[in-house]
Amino acid sequence: MINTHGRPATSRLFLAFFLFGGLSFTASSHASSVAVDDYTVELYDIYCTACHAVKASGAPQAFTSEWHDRLDKGMETLVNHAINGIGNMPPMGTCVECSADDLHDIIQYMAQEQ
Ligand code: HEC
Repeated sequence: MINTHGRPATSRLFLAFFLFGGLSFTASSHASSVAVDDYTVELYDIYCTACHAVKASGAPQAFTSEWHDRLDKGMETLVNHAINGIGNMPPMGTCVECSADDLHDIIQYMAQEQ
């Protein structure tokens, strides 16, 4: 009795591990193929497109090679400039709710060439 109950339980446990392993693999591969989360995209759409998707603003345009030289400054510098403002770029890019991490994520997002 103990043995017949024990065996299926063990194989169920094994199956559970197998399924869990499969799921977590799927989840992590999904995360790496989607480079940004929805919140970052939302912040970008609300606050940054006003200039970074409008050529006449003089801002480096999102998803273009215009970020190449900027990225050479290093991410930390870019985030600092986004926080403090630079040239015609207002402090925080007008995003008062953005944290430094949020700005970092947005910059990484819009600096991708597409
Ligand atoms: C009112 C227009 C405007 C808005 C809104 C704006 N930017 Fe900018 N941004 C600019 C302009 C103009 C520049 C170029 C400044 C320069 O180099 O003289 C710039 C440059 C930058 C740079 C490059 C800084 C450097 O050191 O080269 C970063 C990073 C940046 N913006 C991030 C953001 C982010 C993130 C947002 C949204 C949260 C945002 N900007 C919103 C106008 C804007």
